[in-house]
Amino acid sequence: MKFFVDTADVPAIAELNDLGMVDGVTTNPSLIKKSGRDILEVTKEICDLVEGPVSAEVTATEAEQMIAEGRKLAKIADNIAVKVPLTWDGLKACKVLSDEGNMVNVTLCFSANQALLAAKAGATFISPFIGRLDDINLDGMQLIEDIRTVYDNYGFETQILAASIRTANHVAESARIGADVITAPPSVIKSLASHPLTDKGLAAFLADIKDAGIKIL
Ligand code: G3P
Repeated sequence: MKFFVDTADVPAIAELNDLGMVDGVTTNPSLIKKSGRDILEVTKEICDLVEGPVSAEVTATEAEQMIAEGRKLAKIADNIAVKVPLTWDGLKACKVLSDEGNMVNVTLCFSANQALLAAKAGATFISPFIGRLDDINLDGMQLIEDIRTVYDNYGFETQILAASIRTANHVAESARIGADVITAPPSVIKSLASHPLTDKGLAAFLADIKDAGIKIL
């Protein structure tokens, strides 16, 4: 499973990248706003920092403008994935940009039907939002399972990029189902290593090391 980091915070990306935990990065207008930086500058810096796909989202809602913005974003670096929302205009932009050889990440996906359309439009990635479905008492993980089934039924190559990941359980469940990628905030990725029994067991080992005077160096 690939780990993408869902942030435009360059130092946070660098820290996880040094641990070998960054296979790509996703941003969106809210994350760019949170960074307080120019979208083109921060996106270029992220593309220079990581080797994997870096998703940068268009701001337009009309297909022709999306295509123009997408072409400009794609020129930033070879590892840019142009992000478009799952609307008919977004699907049209996806078709044109993917036919031109660009990676396209279709985002704001909340149904298997939407994911089916994105695959038919040539999307490289589909971004179903788990957390926002959970927020309204729907089952975000069921959407991941449904898309996995639909894509496998017909051999679609579009990669399932599980997004709106809020917890370690979302990551484990996405992996169990077979999502190709998860994109999560740095805090969630860091939380994956935590377990109280690991802490308890290490404390016991350290106590025994001290009691027994175990030395290696
Ligand atoms: O990549 C999409 C992600 O940033 C949305 O997450 O927590 O705002 O639903 P969230």
